[in-house]
Amino acid sequence: MDFPLIRQLKHLGQHPHAPFYAPGHKLGRGMGAPWREWLGEEVGRADFPELPEVGNLFGTTGAIAKTQHLAAQTFGAQETFFLVNGSTGGILAAILATCGEGERLLLPRNVHQSALHGLILSGAMPVFIQPEYDPGRDVAYGVTPEAVEGALGEYSDIKAVLVVYPTYQGIGGDLEAIANITHHYGVPLLVDEAHGAHFAFHPDLPPSALSLGADLTVQSTHKVLGALSQASMVHVQGPRLDRARLNHALRLVQSTSPNSLLLASLESATYQMATEGEALLTETLALAAQAEAAIATLPSLNRVDWPTVPRPGYQWRDRTRLTVFLQHLALTGFEADEILQQLGVIPELPLEKSLTFILTFGNTPQDIEALISGLEYLSATFPPQDPSPPLILPSPLPPPRLTPREAFFRPKIALPIAQTIGRICGESICCYPPGIPLLMPGEEITATALAALEQVLHLGGEIIGLQDANFETLLVVNC
Ligand SMILES: Cc1ncc(COP(=O)(O)O)c(C=O)c1O
Repeated sequence: MDFPLIRQLKHLGQHPHAPFYAPGHKLGRGMGAPWREWLGEEVGRADFPELPEVGNLFGTTGAIAKTQHLAAQTFGAQETFFLVNGSTGGILAAILATCGEGERLLLPRNVHQSALHGLILSGAMPVFIQPEYDPGRDVAYGVTPEAVEGALGEYSDIKAVLVVYPTYQGIGGDLEAIANITHHYGVPLLVDEAHGAHFAFHPDLPPSALSLGADLTVQSTHKVLGALSQASMVHVQGPRLDRARLNHALRLVQSTSPNSLLLASLESATYQMATEGEALLTETLALAAQAEAAIATLPSLNRVDWPTVPRPGYQWRDRTRLTVFLQHLALTGFEADEILQQLGVIPELPLEKSLTFILTFGNTPQDIEALISGLEYLSATFPPQDPSPPLILPSPLPPPRLTPREAFFRPKIALPIAQTIGRICGESICCYPPGIPLLMPGEEITATALAALEQVLHLGGEIIGLQDANFETLLVVNC
């Protein structure tokens, strides 16, 4: 294992020269006082442009090409591209590389917003399938192979399938079966593996998307491994994906001046995984197990746990991702989040009745102690309660009338909610629970969708995404 980019950047930083290239801070010397007083010049001495020795994200020579090749070997891909705009950029490019104007992309309803943005950029028509939803725990799982097969059978012109593996809570569906089905139909499988960059490096973690047959997978290296924010990777394998088009799509959504610190952090994370990944993740899994065992002793928090056997959409669970269920505590996840923050513990994702924590090898035993003592405080301070019945289940999908791109470019008006039935929705409307969008731009606003919206509001749920914070009007396409 080698780290050619970091070696090259160090060499450039130490080698005296007169820099007449961008960036303008010139090896940190021109950085403003607030920065210099905070971090000094050292960071600037590592920030280089695409000099010939460094290369660029799409070249075949230079240190970047070498380090991307090493990353492909380490993560089990045929080819790897570094991303400097997060997994967001990778998902945009994956959609642009596979689906054009009016072509169909099969994807779960609860995809990250970057997938909707990819649809807007490409002009593709989504075919949504509902993920499996667990109302007792109020979490969405993966989509099932049966749902994927049903949609591929119904629409013969689907160009690609995109799935989320794992979910934010670390749950993965039966990706291998989904890969077999999509390949049977001759369609590439794209995976949003933003939360699974560590999977390839420990046998007690879920298998990586590549090992289960994904043609392309996008990983937020910065979320779970030791890379800087925004630093992500897209990995590809097999013959189904047009690599030249992917290459072009990646150029389309990314800067021509990728930050060398971000790229170096990807190289460092790769090196770390190749040399000590399994040992580090063994420690992380032990910390997570310690936290889970402690939570199991807390009276109001130990009453809901994950299923112990697979169920539809739930095949794998990442045990480094900790979710605490609050169904039996008189406290919402948002309230619990605020209290924990005051105690110096900052969760990743609060939802109505759960809190999710990301654990990595960057966490220390002291972090786990602080987490456990914060949860002990919640459990001891707030009264127990009987869980309320599930608020709402995902409703039937509204009929699509325009592509998200068409809806994006059409003029829109805000109408009182009651007057919007039959109109085309101009915004994305997501209710919590169940955290699955009720309406997407381009879809017809149906009486059923509005009834579901009313019910969520009536029962005290949350609506995310509405332009009108008072929930009185909806944005509709003005046509
Ligand atoms: C499931 C999922 N996909 C994609 C993304 C986008 O990742 P990034 O922040 O690396 O752009 C996120 C971000 O939270 C995510 O949760």
